[in-house]
Amino acid sequence: MAAPLKVGIAGLGTVGASVVRLIAEGRADLAARCGRPVEVVAVCARSKGKNRGVDLGRFRWFSDPVALAGDPRIDAFVELMGGEGDPAHAAAAAALKAGKSVVTANKALLARHGVALAALAEKNGGALNFEAAVGGAIPVVKTLREALAGNEISRVYGILNGTCNYMLSRMEREKLSFEECLKEAQRLGYAEADPSFDIEGHDTAQKLSILASLTFGTRVDPKALYVEGISSIATADLEAAEELGYRIKLLGVAVKTPKGIEQRVHPTMVPKDSAIAQVMGVTNAVTIDAVGIAPITLVGPGAGGMATASAVVSDIADVARGLRVPPFGRPAAKLRDSRKAPMQRHEGGYYIRLLAKDRPGSAAAIARRLAQHNISMESIVQRHAGPPAGGAAGGGKPVPVILITYATTEDAVRKALAAVKRDRVISGEPQLIRIEKN
Ligand SMILES: NC(=O)c1ccc[n+]([C@@H]2O[C@H](COP(=O)([O-])OP(=O)(O)OC[C@H]3O[C@@H](n4cnc5c(N)ncnc54)[C@H](OP(=O)(O)O)[C@@H]3O)[C@@H](O)[C@H]2O)c1
Repeated sequence: MAAPLKVGIAGLGTVGASVVRLIAEGRADLAARCGRPVEVVAVCARSKGKNRGVDLGRFRWFSDPVALAGDPRIDAFVELMGGEGDPAHAAAAAALKAGKSVVTANKALLARHGVALAALAEKNGGALNFEAAVGGAIPVVKTLREALAGNEISRVYGILNGTCNYMLSRMEREKLSFEECLKEAQRLGYAEADPSFDIEGHDTAQKLSILASLTFGTRVDPKALYVEGISSIATADLEAAEELGYRIKLLGVAVKTPKGIEQRVHPTMVPKDSAIAQVMGVTNAVTIDAVGIAPITLVGPGAGGMATASAVVSDIADVARGLRVPPFGRPAAKLRDSRKAPMQRHEGGYYIRLLAKDRPGSAAAIARRLAQHNISMESIVQRHAGPPAGGAAGGGKPVPVILITYATTEDAVRKALAAVKRDRVISGEPQLIRIEKN
């Protein structure tokens, strides 16, 4: 059998410790599949004394990840520390410059430095593999980069954040408020103490920027994204979605349009019978629309130690087999700047929820403003107003009105709603959710 692949791992937390365990438990199969053994020989973390539930006694210990990355006794460097800056960046760059292969699960690092690191890998002959950075155990990177290398892809979209999907699922099923769900997600360890990175859509955005690059051959550019989170979603929206035949998901969508490439993250109404709508809880899913074939949907665990380690170990196996592919599916020098389609020109259907003031002419004023902006309605649902507020003079409670539009533009909807607000015929802010068709 050929010489073993000698691996150094920096980061022994949730993912790193699972990678050590998976390689130890799967040693024989891994060697058979790769044609050579895969051996962890050195590890690095901040605290040497911490019990990580795995036997680290046989490995050399490094306290400096950059020193481990440059160590001539390793062939592959596995970065599982996280963070877009140093030491993750310095260590990955040092390993690549030394001609080693790098495997990482670090979406933040790739969103920020992915193209430069890919160029370094190509120049020095190493691989840069990052299957675990998007969708955990779901093999979406390899599907886009390798399995669909011969296909033109028009759209890729998915549920890329388990925390948000867990919260939306529970809000829908148990009619819980956003705040109640967030507390529950934090108690169960699905949401961080500071959940804003997940719920405001930034985690999804980093992952989408990587998928968009793989799909369209564009340079990873988080600034090309429109990002909106789920904190404005109310149970009233989930109930209305249910009635109208939709579910609400936080989607990352990258799509080629005549105006350029749209990369957007926002709560989205998806038809209840679509594959993506069936995905509940912390599970992730990605749908790929390749020209000429029916959509492909990949579903699976998007996070967690073992799920993420599964993708990391498969990337290490590729290195052991000697597989080298351009990290983003084509040489880094051939990646283009993305022609960003302005969000104002996004075209699609919209869900709009308004609180119309309970007085004559409100509904007519709303209808007039929408018509002025050429917005046609697919459906209009007017709920009953509650009883008059405390019997006060001046009319009853505002009346919830739910509108579903036919395809229109973001610009038209925004302008129509601004005019409706100026007319003072609604209370509060209108709710706006984009609809994504199958
Ligand atoms: N957790 C998931 O489900 C998941 C899913 C997909 C992708 N990822 C990605 O995988 C990576 C690791 O995530 P994780 O959840 O395993 O993180 P984690 O549990 O916080 O572990 C991070 C590890 O990195 C070590 N570390 C941090 N800074 C270091 C430094 N300056 N020098 C040396 N070691 C350092 C820590 O050492 P100590 O243990 O000594 O503190 C710890 O072992 C991240 O990029 C994350 O985005 C995670």
